[in-house]
Amino acid sequence: MDIQAQRTQREVSSSPPDKPKLMEGGNYIREGRDSAKSTWLLFSPQAKDNVGSLAKYLTIFSKHGVNLSHIESRSSVRRPGYEFMVECEHGTGDFGAALEDLKKIVGYLNIISRNYKDNRFLPAAVPWFPRRIRDLDRFANQILSYGAELDSDHPGFTDATYRARRKYFADIAYNYKHGQPLPHVDYTKEEVATWGEVFRKLTELYPTHACKEHNHVFPLLIENCGYREDNIPQLEDVSNFLKDCTGFTLRPVAGLLSSRDFLAGLAFRVFHSTQYIRHHSRPLYTPEPDVCHELLGHAPLFADPAFAQFSQEIGLASLGAPDDYIEKLATCFWFTVEFGLCRQGGTLKAFGAGLLSSFGELQYCLSDEPQLKEFDPEVTGLTKYPITEYQPVYFVANSFEDAKDKMIKFAQTIPRDFGVRYNPYTQSIDILDSSKQMKDLLREVHQEMDLLLNVMEKL
Ligand SMILES: [Fe+2]
Repeated sequence: MDIQAQRTQREVSSSPPDKPKLMEGGNYIREGRDSAKSTWLLFSPQAKDNVGSLAKYLTIFSKHGVNLSHIESRSSVRRPGYEFMVECEHGTGDFGAALEDLKKIVGYLNIISRNYKDNRFLPAAVPWFPRRIRDLDRFANQILSYGAELDSDHPGFTDATYRARRKYFADIAYNYKHGQPLPHVDYTKEEVATWGEVFRKLTELYPTHACKEHNHVFPLLIENCGYREDNIPQLEDVSNFLKDCTGFTLRPVAGLLSSRDFLAGLAFRVFHSTQYIRHHSRPLYTPEPDVCHELLGHAPLFADPAFAQFSQEIGLASLGAPDDYIEKLATCFWFTVEFGLCRQGGTLKAFGAGLLSSFGELQYCLSDEPQLKEFDPEVTGLTKYPITEYQPVYFVANSFEDAKDKMIKFAQTIPRDFGVRYNPYTQSIDILDSSKQMKDLLREVHQEMDLLLNVMEKL
């Protein structure tokens, strides 16, 4: 039985004794190991102060013995002038006293911490999440298990060569930093043969089983990215292609990320991708996502604008969301991006990557056997599912646009004291919590409306 990718992208590998526990019901959400050892403070001077006042603030941290591992000044989006961002190391000095002193002399203060719920000094803090695309580099140090570790029932468990190869892939991903070219890999003959077997079997099914968006993009990937039976495409080529289409990019991942971290990547239109391939002994089976799953299942859909937007909405909704909502969002991801079906021209088609990369399940999902339900984030997000067998239930989306609208409505129910907006120019997340930002946003919307009216008049 082919159960390719019935775990998620993030479940790159796991191994005793550090094997993370699956939560009840087979949910692939895992208990995250909180590796954040710092709290970030974002503050701006009072109106009467200027950029020179940074020295005054630094004195406070020094006085209370709080170590700062990062100091940054930048132009404020909330008020005229500058704002500062500092990273305070946990366990150094009297952080509470420093915070109290700081509050007295700043105009605006935002506290960002992963441990905010446990910290009595931070009642108004929001959880840390990446604000800039390069912050995703931090996730490399927060993986829950390393991709070179294999379970004893993994087809490659006793194959020393395969294990060494897996370590090679995990290492290059671990050392990857945002902005670098994606590492080029010379795949072995054996690896290419494995890919070829999967490629040949799946491409037989795509014309009849895959959604029209997948079938539209696939020939372009053949033309532009080296998708062939005798060639494993390079992540770099695929990532560049996706960037041209929708702004999505791939970045290699060295191991298992928490659901929160993985979803946060989507907010930046970044998809964490494995680069290794399954074991050659069982080409139509893999217990975890591999390069076949990523490039045949996921990549084509990320080239579709509506699907890309839908995926990003899940990511944006996750930023700073409470843990129970992260679980709901990750479950929605599972039933859409991984195992989603849609209705097209009166027939059912597959768009989930777990289906489009599984020869067995791609046929099964469109048979009469599984149960079908309408996609509804409120219901879908609470549905339990198995990870080691075909799904008994699939959720059907009317269209990616419709699914996106439903996700946006669902995101509005997430209890957060702030709004988030992705800024594609700076590749960063703006936190909307000031009237100046609302006015700026309104101005932008006005400009867009003017442009729209202008073009409509011309047409
Ligand atoms: Fe996946």
